[in-house]
Amino acid sequence: MGSFDNEINRRRTFAIISHPDAGKTTLTEKFLLYGGQINLAGSVKGKATARHAVSDWMEIEKERGISVTSSVMQFEYDGFCINILDTPGHQDFSEDTYRTLMAADSAVMVIDGAKGVEPQTRKLFKVCAMRGIPIFTFINKLDRDALDTFDLLDDIEKELGISTCPVNWPIGSGKNFKGVYDRKSRTIVTYSDTQKGTKEGHTEVVSLDDKEAALKEIGNDAFDKLDGEIELLDGASAEFDLEEVRAGKLTPVFFGSALTNFGVEIFLQHFLEMTTTPLPRKSEDGMVEPTDDSFSAFVFKIQANMNKAHRDRIAFMRICSGKFEADKEVKHVQGGRTLRLSQPQQIMADERKILSEAYAGDIIGVFDPGIFSIGDTVCSPSKAVKFEGIPTFAPEHFARVRQIDTMKRKQFVKGISQIAQEGAIQIFQELNSGLEEIIVGVVGVLQFDVLKFRLENEYNVEIRLEPLPYEHIRWIEKSETDIAKLTGTSDMKKVTDLKGRPLLLFVNPWSIGMTIERNPGLELSEFARN
Ligand code: G4P
Repeated sequence: MGSFDNEINRRRTFAIISHPDAGKTTLTEKFLLYGGQINLAGSVKGKATARHAVSDWMEIEKERGISVTSSVMQFEYDGFCINILDTPGHQDFSEDTYRTLMAADSAVMVIDGAKGVEPQTRKLFKVCAMRGIPIFTFINKLDRDALDTFDLLDDIEKELGISTCPVNWPIGSGKNFKGVYDRKSRTIVTYSDTQKGTKEGHTEVVSLDDKEAALKEIGNDAFDKLDGEIELLDGASAEFDLEEVRAGKLTPVFFGSALTNFGVEIFLQHFLEMTTTPLPRKSEDGMVEPTDDSFSAFVFKIQANMNKAHRDRIAFMRICSGKFEADKEVKHVQGGRTLRLSQPQQIMADERKILSEAYAGDIIGVFDPGIFSIGDTVCSPSKAVKFEGIPTFAPEHFARVRQIDTMKRKQFVKGISQIAQEGAIQIFQELNSGLEEIIVGVVGVLQFDVLKFRLENEYNVEIRLEPLPYEHIRWIEKSETDIAKLTGTSDMKKVTDLKGRPLLLFVNPWSIGMTIERNPGLELSEFARN
């Protein structure tokens, strides 16, 4: 046990996941507002301007007016030290979005009450589920007309395969949104519209059992409907079970409106009570406890510098155990070197702060002269550990890369291999062929532009990308037949990745099913464990 257990035990590190526009940014702003981190909500993502001041090391961001980075925010609330990992969405959705989830101990899933589960939520959820981390659901935008509450829960259960347990229950939605009913205390918290940016409006709390007061607050119709719904709910929904929540099998569900700031603090309070302290992490020699005396961390993301005058990069690491002290030497396990981490910093919403210390659960960004790779371990020299690597996630867009000036073959191969090693793109080659024909795969299409830009600017190589129709990729985990002899559908392509692992590309999910059917004993996977 370390002497800083208190610091570690008050930490909560989570990611916010959602489909674009569900309200992730608005909810994050409100969290920060409660933590007193910012005075007026609205400074997390001044969509086109504010964020660039922070991340101006990325030229492409400025050019495209979007953010390629995902930020980490830390704030204090009620004695807790909270780290929020933002998962980039929109056009900047990339493999980094998935990798960020590797650094979180739980996830908050924001769902638009009018839309239910959307594609990006589904993808991000899958990665959280693979890790078995707790997932908390905030159903947002109740100030607008929402889908039927039972249908929303049904949607989550069917689409995502997780049981739901509503902690509170909405009373109406849109113009008729009256507030939420808290199941445990059997009270109604009434809604009042608030000015954007203020902490809270005027709310009333009445007991459902005080029928007269409840009727006065929400009216006859809403009362009768709520009464009926609660009866149904109590009979049908899963019992609340904290063990199940912690195991990622049951998601507590909350309702509210991030924009008008209703239900946000209630959610935050329950969430902090239910979520976990920093989780232990698997190393080659067993689990490493966060309160272990010695420092350890792993790299989950590398941010390349787009400015060719500065080839430096920022490596983001999640501290897994102990305390980080800026002036102490650490060991980079994969590189076999001892070094001092240079310019350790915390990347905040609107600033970068140089750190002198940080604890298990925290995320730090360090200056990387090009030595770190995704998944690397950094730890106290006295006690070396090596964490399990980060999986490679399935790209969803593919293109054939054509080099315009074939004389520059060497630079081209060097450039594309280096960029792939950093983890910005994945490269594949046809089975049994060399690097003549390169297929590049990305999770988000913006990475194609990043690749083109970087090859031109850093390696002086021009390329042309020809889109390919594949959308699904599966690593071959097991095959009874020789890979070259596997029979699939006519649209299937056999390739190998940078590490020589065989995989299959498919145009549609149907072909995956057919291929499995036609090759008994064939096992495919959406992730590749490194
Ligand atoms: P994201 O990060 O998940 O992509 O979503 P973001 O918070 O940016 O919200 C997307 C849009 O939805 C924003 O409107 C935001 O104001 C709105 N929104 C978020 N929460 C709520 C809510 O509880 N109720 C209602 N009615 N709207 C909500 P926008 O017009 O795109 O942007 P803005 O100009 O308002 O910033």
